Formats: sequence, structure tokens, C-alpha cells
Amino acid sequence: MFRLVSSNMAFFTHHIKRSFSSSAVRNVVIKNVTIIGGGQMGAGIAQVAASTGHSVTLVDMTDDILKKAMKGIQSSLRRVVKKTFSGDPESGDDFIQKVMQNVSTSTEPSAAIATSDLILEAIVENMKIKQDLFGFLDKMAPEHTIFASNTSSLPISDIASATSRPDRCAGLHFFNPVPLMKLVEVVATTSTSPETSESLLNFTKALGKTPVCCKDTPGFIVNRLLVPYMMEALRLHERGHASKEDIDTGMKLGAGYPMGPFELSDYVGLDTIKFIMDGWSKKEPDNPIFAPSQLLNKLVAEGKLGKKTLEGFYKYNK
Ligand code: CAA
Ligand code: NAD
Repeated sequence: MFRLVSSNMAFFTHHIKRSFSSSAVRNVVIKNVTIIGGGQMGAGIAQVAASTGHSVTLVDMTDDILKKAMKGIQSSLRRVVKKTFSGDPESGDDFIQKVMQNVSTSTEPSAAIATSDLILEAIVENMKIKQDLFGFLDKMAPEHTIFASNTSSLPISDIASATSRPDRCAGLHFFNPVPLMKLVEVVATTSTSPETSESLLNFTKALGKTPVCCKDTPGFIVNRLLVPYMMEALRLHERGHASKEDIDTGMKLGAGYPMGPFELSDYVGLDTIKFIMDGWSKKEPDNPIFAPSQLLNKLVAEGKLGKKTLEGFYKYNK
């Protein structure tokens, strides 16, 4: 889908690139955002950005996926509005309508990209696919556009290497569910310019989130600690030392976690956890922390990816 670029578009983007001076590149106030990937993360980020007055284009492979994403945004907004406009349902409805107007969808990103201040990818956790996407979009985007990845575990510098703008590439790592989780990790590589980091810090604050800064280190802050914990729970269960239900209850009631590790794995997506683990164990095959889990691999091979497929470690109703 991203391979077709008309010669008109190439001409257009050439002129847009020329029209930005180098000072425009320095300080980017992010208003127009293109989000590539309308799955659970992309849709959540689109919702939060649109709710805070940003103009958002959500891009995915098919119209069906995008329709599902828009439906998900609407129902999540209803849950938010139930609380924030509890005494005034009419204003709540107006708010939802306004937010939905801030989001458009497309399976063809070139038009939106030509006016984007930020392109944020939230597609599948695969280096080659992310690099191909960024390499392709880099040729179309204006000079000032910042490229950010929501990757859970892949090196930002490797993704950025597919572009001609490593100084304007960074990690912007949101947490699931995006409308509720307050944190965003802003990840700077050795090439990310201070201006890019500052623009992204300002953007996350404009979204009402709390940013933390991190270097381009595997798993950044949260996943470096969280994913090995989830995998250790899995190994405990695989050794037959405790049931998944008891491990979940243990961590909720004994450690105060809102979800147990199996509930959380299902929530994140077992495919995403497997992608993270496979990447890390490839880099450090002898590190026992990154050892693969047969149970995780089996569930993913069976297409039991967690809540999004209605079955993972547990079964879910629609
Ligand atoms: N959109 C809007 N509102 C939502 C929502 C959503 N997607 N999900 C839940 N809510 C609202 C509910 O409507 C409910 O509102 P009320 O209080 O008005 O009833 C409220 O949030 C609480 O929801 P629930 O009662 O359904 O469930 P809960 O109390 O367990 O809270 C939760 C849900 C916030 C998800 C909580 O369980 C939690 O914090 N879980 C841990 C999540 C976590 O650790 N996320 C990080 C994952 S790792 C990651 O994201 C990084 C990575 O790279 C893999
Ligand atoms: P998901 O499977 O729910 O959604 C991914 C979406 O990307 C799908 O709709 C798919 O059709 C689309 N897609 C794939 N390749 C594409 C392409 N080339 N162009 C356009 N769209 C494409 O995945 P997710 O859970 O939203 O995760 C997305 C990214 O966010 C991953 O990098 C993941 O590691 C990261 N992440 C996930 C979580 C989580 O809890 N699930 C949290 C933080 C970060």
C-alpha cells in the first residue's frame, strides 16, 4: 500500500521540503499528527491526541481495521465521558462529536503526511517492517516532520537508520490502555536532537501525560523491568509450581498490582510479548532472563494472542 507515490506527490513534497527553513526544523509545535497502525495502541494514541485538540490521521492497511479502530475510540470515549461529564450527558455527547471530528482515517498516508508535524508508528513489532515504513515515509514527509516509534523493545537508532533524519527520530512509548495510563517514555538516541526531544516532551504534556526521558536502551525503563517479570511468572507456571490464577491473585493481593502477570500478558498481546522476547534472546541467547517459553510460543502459534483474539491464557467474551 505504501509503495505507490505519484509523480505529482513527489513534486508536491519536494516543494514542501523546500518551504521549511532550518529554524522551522528546530522547534516543532506539534498540531498535525499521523499515526500509522490503528490497533490497540494506535487507536488509543489517536483518541488521546484528538481529545486534546490535535488533528489526527489514523492509517492502517484496510478500511475494516480502521472502522474497528474508530468504533473502539468511540466506545472508549463514552467510558471517559461517563466520568468527566457525569452530570451533563449532552455536553459529553458534544465532546465526543468534536473529538471524532479531529480524527480522519486513511489507507493511503501521503496526503496527511505532507502536512504532518509528527508521524508516529504503532505497527507490528518487527524491525524490517518498521524500517521499510520509515524509509518510505521519509521521502514524502516535510523536512520539519518528527518521526517517532511506539516500539516496545526495538532499538530506535536502528529504526531511525532507515531515514535521512536521525536527528528528528525518537521513541515515544505509550502504555496500554493509552487513555488511562499516564506515562509516556521519550526515548532519545545519540543522534536525536535536543529540539526533537523538547518538541516531544511538550507534545506529551499537551496530551495530559507525564513524560519520562530514557536513552535508547533495550526495553527503555518500564519494559526492561516489566517483561522479565511477566516471563518469570510464566516460567513459574510452566514448572508446575503454581497455577496462573494463583500467581495472578498473588501479585494483585500481595504486591498491589492492578492486574496479575497472566491477565496483563493477555491485555498487552501475547504476540507482542513474543516479539519482544525473540528480539532480546536473539541478542543475548545465553541470558536466562531472555529464555523462550514453550507455552507462550504454543499459544501464539495457535493464534491465541490474548484479549484481542478473545483467548490467550484466559478466555474472554466479546
Ligand atoms: N478507555 C476508557 N476508559 C477505560 C478503558 C479504556 N480503554 N479501560 C478502562 N476504562 C475505565 C473503565 O470504564 C472504568 O471506569 P469507572 O471507574 O468509571 O467505572 C475504569 O477505567 C476502571 O476500569 P475497570 O473497572 O474495567 O478495570 P480496572 O479497575 O482493573 O482498571 C486498568 C483497568 C486501568 C487497565 C487497570 O487494570 C490497570 O492499570 N492495569 C495494568 C495496566 C498496565 O500495566 N499497563 C501497562 C502494560 S505494558 C505496556 O503498555 C508497554 C508495552 O510496551 C507492552
Ligand atoms: P496491534 O496488533 O493491536 O496493532 C498493530 C496494527 O498495525 C494493526 O492494525 C495492523 O494492521 C497495523 N499494521 C501492521 N503493519 C502495518 C503497515 N505496514 N502499515 C500500516 N499498518 C500496519 O498492535 P499494538 O498492540 O497496537 O502494538 C503496536 C506497537 O506498539 C508495537 O510496536 C508494540 O510493541 C507497541 N506497544 C504495544 C503495547 C501493548 O500493550 N500492546 C504497549 C506499548 C507499545
